[in-house]
Amino acid sequence: MSDHAAPRFVVTNRMPGAAVEMLEAAGEVVYLDVESPPSRERLMEAVAGATVVLTMLSDRVDEELFAAAGEGLRCVCNVAVGFDNVDLAAAARRGVAVTNTPGVLDDATADLAMALILAASRRIVEGDRLVRSGEPWRWGMTFMLGRDLRGRTLGVLGLGKIGAKVAERARSFGMEIAYSGRHPAEVADRLDARRLSLDELLESADVLTLHCPLTDETRHLIGAAELALMKPTAALVNAARGPVVDEAALVEALRSGQIAAAGLDVYEDEPRVHPDLLVMENVTMTPHLGSATVETREAMAELAARNAIAAARGEPLITPVPLPG
Ligand code: DGY
Repeated sequence: MSDHAAPRFVVTNRMPGAAVEMLEAAGEVVYLDVESPPSRERLMEAVAGATVVLTMLSDRVDEELFAAAGEGLRCVCNVAVGFDNVDLAAAARRGVAVTNTPGVLDDATADLAMALILAASRRIVEGDRLVRSGEPWRWGMTFMLGRDLRGRTLGVLGLGKIGAKVAERARSFGMEIAYSGRHPAEVADRLDARRLSLDELLESADVLTLHCPLTDETRHLIGAAELALMKPTAALVNAARGPVVDEAALVEALRSGQIAAAGLDVYEDEPRVHPDLLVMENVTMTPHLGSATVETREAMAELAARNAIAAARGEPLITPVPLPG
């Protein structure tokens, strides 16, 4: 792109709110106004000649995409807080900046995680299924019992912004908070959260909730050995990234009664879900809805658009992702 040509923004999926209009006011826009991710071929075609590409977590951003975009590409603005779909090393090699959308989705994602914690502890979706099935049921002292939240321990793996918001909510339900990993003392103090080793966290959590990013270190962080340390009454909640959990090991742990329940918003190979999970009554599943509220998705799209416009103008990025090297 010459310095005087209008920047070309490519948006790879439908976005709500004012984001597309903001981009249109700042340059030329190629807008894939589709709800499902475009085919790889369509994506490669669309990004050709882009100055900035606004990508979704369902788009693989790699050498192939950089090559298809060409030399004029300045920035990839991922409309998600997670950026495990982006090859950061390739971006660094190409001199392409990357941004994400932290902060604006913390409350929505924490709400969804809390909903899964409640659903897993109180069998809400299982109860809904039973009522809808038309099967006879009656109130009974021992009928469909769940577990209290008050007095139980929430183990937070990843006490970052979202993890801390989940902990805040859980505290108002009377839960004790424990976490593992290094996090600012101020956050842990505010939440009165106990720091434990990972093994201790697994052993003591009544509900283990995952909020760490997906990296080489966290892939399959929760596998058979870790699940074996958990209480047979415990629930696992994952609203982070599917591959943090070894899904086959989770199926086995649920089947054998190693743990009691799971609440899942994310899956190892989305949108595919392990077929055995589909028939387990003690598993509550949502289709990656963590940030899926009108307000939050609008805010995510607008933050990505502001980053895109800044990148095209050569201005400082609002929420850059640090690149390696
Ligand atoms: C994210 O932003 O990483 C979320 O998973 C989107 O819902």
